[in-house]
This record gives sequence, structure tokens and C-alpha cells, in this order.
Amino acid sequence: MKLVSLLSFFFFFFLLFVFCSQRELGEALSTRGGHANCPPRGWNSYDSFSWIISEQEFLQNAEVVSRRLLGHGYQYVVVDFLWYRRKVPGAYTDSLGFDVIDKWGRVIPDPQRWPSSKNGKGFTEVAKKVHGMGLKFGIHVMRGISTQAVNANTPILDVSTGRAYTESGRFWYAKDIGLKDRACAWMPHGFMSVDTNLGAARAFLRSLYTQYAEWGVDFVKHDCIFGDDLNVNEITIVSEVLKELNRPILYSLSPGTSATPTMAKDVSALVNMYRITGDDWDSWGDVAAHFNVSRDFAAAHMIGDKGLRGTSWPDLDMLPIGWLTDPGSNDGPHRKSKLNLDEQRTQMTLWSMAKSPLMFGGDLRKLDSITYGIIANPTLLEINSFSMNNREFPYITATNDLRASHLGFITESRRPKEMTALASHVLHLTSCKDHKAKGWVSEVLDNELERICWKDSRRNYRPPFCLYKRKPLVTVASDDEILHKQKYQGKHHLLALDSMESCLDASPKTKLTSQELKSSLFSPCRWDANQMWELNINETLVNSYSGLCGVVKNAKANVNSGGIRSWVATGRRGEIYLSFFNLSSRKMVISAKVSDLNRVHPWRSLHQGSCTYREVWTGKDYGVAKETISLAVAKHGCALLVLRCSP
Ligand SMILES: *[C@@H]1O[C@H](CO)[C@@H](O)[C@H](O)[C@H]1NC(C)=O
Ligand SMILES: *[C@@H]1O[C@H](CO)[C@@H](O)[C@H](O)[C@H]1NC(C)=O
Ligand SMILES: *[C@@H]1O[C@H](CO)[C@@H](O)[C@H](O)[C@H]1NC(C)=O
Repeated sequence: MKLVSLLSFFFFFFLLFVFCSQRELGEALSTRGGHANCPPRGWNSYDSFSWIISEQEFLQNAEVVSRRLLGHGYQYVVVDFLWYRRKVPGAYTDSLGFDVIDKWGRVIPDPQRWPSSKNGKGFTEVAKKVHGMGLKFGIHVMRGISTQAVNANTPILDVSTGRAYTESGRFWYAKDIGLKDRACAWMPHGFMSVDTNLGAARAFLRSLYTQYAEWGVDFVKHDCIFGDDLNVNEITIVSEVLKELNRPILYSLSPGTSATPTMAKDVSALVNMYRITGDDWDSWGDVAAHFNVSRDFAAAHMIGDKGLRGTSWPDLDMLPIGWLTDPGSNDGPHRKSKLNLDEQRTQMTLWSMAKSPLMFGGDLRKLDSITYGIIANPTLLEINSFSMNNREFPYITATNDLRASHLGFITESRRPKEMTALASHVLHLTSCKDHKAKGWVSEVLDNELERICWKDSRRNYRPPFCLYKRKPLVTVASDDEILHKQKYQGKHHLLALDSMESCLDASPKTKLTSQELKSSLFSPCRWDANQMWELNINETLVNSYSGLCGVVKNAKANVNSGGIRSWVATGRRGEIYLSFFNLSSRKMVISAKVSDLNRVHPWRSLHQGSCTYREVWTGKDYGVAKETISLAVAKHGCALLVLRCSP
């Protein structure tokens, strides 16, 4: 009898699931600007294949999604970037000249890797097969136009006539619309923005998305367009073009480096999801870096409130779990995720509590049962789809005394220390003798521009610290200039962007974060020793004024020194979800008072004895909650409690 009721419960649950992920999402897409009530879910090829995936590998993964994950709401299969790049020697993530483009300057799938695309079929056959599996098909696209199309100066297709675009009595070409000084910052050879003021540029964008719809695409991940790369004009035009097409296409923005709720408000009514962080990979620092930003979006009511203020989902990025490759690699999957089990559960718990889209990143052909148990956990998926009032819960305390890790009162608890900064990278100055200061390398770009980058093996795909090298800029035309030229022979200014005239300004106290690199520590370029830098042969970068050398540290490492977090949300059957996270490197007892839950759910009056609870990951039932709920939480681990309370 118990079994029967259990089964019917799960059946009911399953129905609701499908209901949510298909009907509500479909509705949101068809009404446009309506509220998507469930975060989208699926698989994306990037974490396991970088850019080199083939049609066969993609369809093999899609087949596993269909067989094992579709029932859990994983519905989209998305091929990530550079599906148009030929996989030949010399081609890599920022190479130029290896892409397959059609006569209208549009990228099309590389026929070697995507054999069914031959004879102008694009992704039509792949989309058909994906649809045949009951799934939806997504592709990654870059902003603007490819450099290769601009160099080839291809004509622009007018989809309304099927002929070359004309306006003001003339034909228009790729060179007329491409903005060379607005190259994508992290793929400068590959793509550039288009001048959206021009009818020809809008026609070009329309020709791209019309073709995607003809192929049967259901999802576009538009990259180099949000966060630090924000381009609201192009987002607006693409969203209008998508609206005109008679095919619902889910519109996703990327990346989310430095994204803020204010920035997101400008686009949230135009798109279905947008990233709120930089790329997330399988390091603890990357997971930990998501806590502050999710808290801020929740506080801005952009996560999971009843009726999102925006209409779209803040996206914490893919889940890099299981069998993976490396960022920016030219290789396919070859290694296990570096996150341990606690860290994987922490990631899944935060992603679910923050209602992020869930896009699994591992190679599904090697899906193991532990990974499957994490990404298909029914309670986590229930929270991800249906929870409400999701937010950080600040009223927690922590103690090292593991004897207190039982129900009941904690006598000696203390407030956790101030959280340490989670900023990704910090530039310090240090003695040039310090071996850690080695790692600066110079790179000549095609227009003879030289940039100096901090070699970061883990993130070579998007170097966090690249600075453009310029001869000291001339500001005075006098004898002084000659003097200065002699004085600063061989020295250089360092610019944040190749087109900006603000220079990196150092002093022995300088401490720059990668975000600040864009603004406060750059000042107008001038003849000033503080702004003069020289690259030594031994890969150190010395500042002329201080004689000190730059060193880039991963500030996320500081996370280990402390930090507890907690999130709370309510379920659709009145449950309360309470999660504890221990971001520090030692085991910790984390406690919350039941009465404090009233502070975030003021319509309730919970008190000692009114709730029972269980922990999801261990399945352990704790019975009635006394005044304080306390649990020991492992380093980097989490506890996820489901409380059922009587009013
Ligand atoms: C995260 O938030 C905490 C608490 O407000 C703050 O002390 C810390 O500096 C923040 N970290 C970052 C990287 O912003
Ligand atoms: C690198 O070279 C500079 C200049 O020759 C020197 O002063 C510095 O000590 C060297 N640093 C290291 C770590 O080798
Ligand atoms: C996580 O547990 C360790 C070990 O008890 C503790 O040192 C650390 O401070 C805990 N985290 C927080 C934020 O308290």
C-alpha cells in the first residue's frame, strides 16, 4: 500500500514536471514577454567538447538526454561555439580564416564535422533527429559578423526578396556594416559588432536568425553580447527578429562577467535567460564565486519571485560535472571533473535554490550513477522548477564544536567572520625577484598591435589580464617630449582596450581586481613613471616608478579562509527549503533558529515544535525541529533541509 502511494506520488510529480517544462515554457515563448515559469534545462557541449564536437558525438549525447534526462525536464541539447570552424592544424578558438561561410557571409556548419549539413542543408537534418528524440535543438552564436565575412566583403542577403540587400540605390556589403574597432574582446580575431543603425546591418542579422529558424533551431545562445560585452542594441534587434519568426526560439545571453541586476533589467524583457557570471568551470573558486551574485539578483527580485520582475532567468552557467575537457581546448573530453562530491552537491544545491537554468556539461556517453543521482535528484529539480521566495538567509551562526551538531540549542555559537572576497583575480605588485611574478607574455595581434597577457593555464581562453601595449602616447610636442622619449626608452603604456586612451596606473599600493581593470585603476595616459611598464626577458612585468613587478593572484583561493551561507525558499506545497553552505576549508556546524525563518516569511508564525525536517542529500529524517536547527557541514559542502511546518 505504501509502495502504491509512493508510485502515484511520483507519477503525479512526473506529470507536473512535464507540464511545467513544456507547456509553461512553450506558453511563455509563444506569448513573448509572458513569464517563463520554469528555468530551462538541457545539455550543452562546451564543457566536454570545447569547440570540436562532431555530429555523431552530438547525436550520441542527445540520445542519452532523451533516454535518461528528458523525463527530468532536460529538454534542450545545445551545440556550443565554433560549429562552423574547420578542425585542421592551425585552427583554434581565436584563429582567423578557418570558418565555413556561405556567399552571404553567414557561418554554416563545417561539413567535415557535420556531414549532414552538406548541400546547403545547414543543421536541418540534425534538428530533425533531435526533434525525433522528443528534444529541442539549440546552437551557440556570436554577436555581429565574422571577421572572415568582413574580409571577404560578402554581400548581404535581404530575406524579404531573396536577393542582395539594396538601399539608397546601392548594394551593401559586409565591410559597410562591420565595426572593426568593436571586435569581441575575448575572440578578437573571430567576430565584431555590426552598426545596428544601418538597415543593412539589421538585414544581415535578420538573414542569420531566419536561417536558424529554417534549420529548425529552438534555442540560441548569443555570446559576447552581455556582461562586459553588453550590446543592448543588437540584443533588441535580435529579439525583434525572433519575434517576427513563426518559430518559438528560446533566447539566451552570454557571458555574464560583471553583470548586475541593473544591467539585466535592460534586457530581461527581451530574452529568456541571461548569464550572471563569467564562465564556470570545475574549480571550487568558480562555484564559490556564484554566491554573492545570486544573492544580489535575488535581493533585486530577479530570481524566483512569484511573477519575475524580469521575464527571464538569471543563468549561473553549465554544470561542469562528470567527463570533461579544458577551457579553450582543441581536444574532446579526457578527464573527470575536479569538483569533489561535496562541491558538486553544493553547486547543484545553489543552482536549484537560485532557480538557474540547468545545463549539464559532461559527456553523457560516460554518465556515471553518482553524477546522474545529482543532476536527476527529484527534490533538487522540484526546487529548481517550482520554489518561490528564493533568497539568501543571513540569520545563521557557525561553530567548530562538532558536539553541537545535533538537534537542540547551541550555547556557544558565534557570528561567522566577515566573508572574504570572492573576486576572481587580483593584480598586485611584488618584488621582481619573486618567481611568482613570472608569467607575462607578449602576443602580436594581426594589426601589429601587441598585447601582454598573464598566462593562466586554466583560463587561457579568456585571459583575465590582457593589456594592450602602446608606445608612450605623445601628449606634449616640445623638447620635453624628446627628453621623455629618452627617459622612457623601451617602456610602454598599457591600455585596457586597444581603442581606449586610459593607461594602467600603478603605485606600490596598487591592488586591482579584474573588474576594476576596466575602470578605476586606469587614468588618462601621460608621461608618468607610474604608467610606464617594461616586459623583462624572464616574463616579469616591471613598473618604472616602483621597480616592482606585477603578479596576478587568484583571489578566489581566499574563499578557503571562511564563509558560511544559507538560502531559503518556499515550495508549492507549503514546504520550506533551507540550505546551509560551508564555503570554508574545515568542517563546520551551521545553525538557524526556526523563529528567524519568520523574518523572511512574515506571513507565517513558526515556532519551536511546529516543523519536522529531513536532509535531502543524506536522506536523513530529523523529526521535530526544536528552537535551533544545527548541522555539521563539511568543507565546501552543503546541507539541504526540507521543513514541513504546521501553521
Ligand atoms: C561578497 O559579499 C560579502 C558580504 O556582503 C562581502 O563581504 C564580500 O566582499 C563579497 N565578495 C565579493 C567578491 O564581492
Ligand atoms: C627577471 O629579470 C629582471 C631584470 O633582469 C631581474 O631584476 C629580476 O630579478 C628577474 N626575476 C626573476 C624572478 O628571475
Ligand atoms: C566550515 O567548516 C570549517 C571547519 O569547521 C570552519 O573552519 C569554517 O569556518 C566553516 N565555514 C564557516 C563559514 O564557518
